[in-house]
Amino acid sequence: MEISQRLKKIPPYLFVELDRLKNEKIKQGVDVIDLGIGDPDIPTPYELVEVAKKAIEKAEYHRYPSNWGSLFFRKACADYIKRRFGIKLDPEREILALIGSKEGIAHFPIAFINPGDIVLCPNPAYPVYHLGAIFTDGIPYYIPLSWENNFLPDLSKIPQEILEKAKIMWLNYPNNPTGATATREFFKEVIKFAKKYNIIVAHDAAYIEMYYEEPPISILEIEGAKDIAIEFHSLSKTFCMTGWRIGFAVGNGFLVSALAKVKSNIDSGVFTAIQEVGAFALNNLENLVPPLISIFKKRRDFLTEELKNLGYQFIKPSATFYLWVKTPNGLPSQEFCKRVLQDIGVVVTPGIGFGSAGEGYFRIALTVGEERLKEAVQRFSTLQI
Ligand SMILES: Cc1ncc(COP(=O)(O)O)c(C=O)c1O
Repeated sequence: MEISQRLKKIPPYLFVELDRLKNEKIKQGVDVIDLGIGDPDIPTPYELVEVAKKAIEKAEYHRYPSNWGSLFFRKACADYIKRRFGIKLDPEREILALIGSKEGIAHFPIAFINPGDIVLCPNPAYPVYHLGAIFTDGIPYYIPLSWENNFLPDLSKIPQEILEKAKIMWLNYPNNPTGATATREFFKEVIKFAKKYNIIVAHDAAYIEMYYEEPPISILEIEGAKDIAIEFHSLSKTFCMTGWRIGFAVGNGFLVSALAKVKSNIDSGVFTAIQEVGAFALNNLENLVPPLISIFKKRRDFLTEELKNLGYQFIKPSATFYLWVKTPNGLPSQEFCKRVLQDIGVVVTPGIGFGSAGEGYFRIALTVGEERLKEAVQRFSTLQI
C-alpha cells in the first residue's frame, strides 16, 4: 500500500522530537508546564452546558442536521454580525454553519482551486491554509509577516506573475501565532488589491472576540468586501468550546454557497443540539465573554510584564491568547524550545512550526492558570541561554 502523491506533499510534522521529549519528561516525573497548545484550559460556561443538556434530549435533533445549518443558528449568527460589526447579512444565503472553522478553511479551496492555481498564504500562519492548497493540488505562495511590518503582509512585494495565477488570499486577524491585529486601512488596501487582481479574500476571524483593547473589525465592514470576501468565524476560543466543533462562514453568497456545495457532498452538518448551544452563546455573547476575557487579560498582563523584565522581546498583543517572542540571541527556534523543555520543563512552540518566517521566534499560549504561569516565569528566570 502507498499513500497518495497528494498526502506525500504534506510537510513533515515538525514537533515530533519535542513531543517525544515532552512525553519522556512526563514519564520521568517532571512537572511539565504546557504553554504549547492553543486550547483554552477554562471549561465552557455552565450556562452553555445547561442548554446542551436539554437540547440533547430533543428527539427531532437526533436526525441528520440541515446541511447549511439550522435557520435559527444562522439567524443568531446574522444578529451577532449585525450587533457587533453593523453588517446586515442574509442568513439564508450568506451564512453557513461549520463543524468548527478548521473544517471550513480546509474545504474552501476545493470549491475554487484547480491544479496549479496559486493560494496566497501568510507565513508564519495556522498551517491549514497551505495544507488546504496542497490537498487541492494548488500551489501555496508564502507572504512573509514581519515584525517590521506589524505582522501584516506587504502586498506590493508579491510578484505580478504570482498575482495573475492567484485565486485565494488567506488572512487571519487577530493573528495566530503573532497576536497581531489588522487596521481598517490595511483591510481597505486588501479589498482594493484583491479586486484589482480578481483574488478571493478568505479571512480567518477565529480570534475576533478574544481582544483586550480595541474590538477588532470584520473585513466585511470594508465597502465592497462582500463582492469578493468570505470570513470564517469560530465559537471555539470565544466561548472556550474547542471540543464542541462549531463555527460559521459569512460573506459573499456565491463563495458561501460554493463551500456549502462542497460540504454537502462530504459531511452532514453540525449536530443540531450543538447549534442550539451555539445560537444561545452568540445571542448572549455580551454576557458570557467578558468574564473569560478578563481571565486571559490578567494572564497576558502578568506574563508580558514578567517576560519584559527578563529581557525577552515581543510586541504586547492586544488580542488572541498568544505571545510571539524572539528567541534569545537569535537561537534557532527548535533548539531554543528543546532547551526550555529540557532545562526547565516548560513547553513552548517553535516559530518554525508555523512556517519559515517563524524562525527566530517562539509562541507562548496563555492556556494555564495564574499559579502555573507564575511557576513558568520563575523557571524562565533560571534559564541559562
Ligand atoms: C487561526 C486559527 N484559525 C482557525 C482555527 C480552528 O478553530 P476551530 O476549528 O476550533 O474553529 C484555529 C485553531 O487553533 C486557529 O488558530
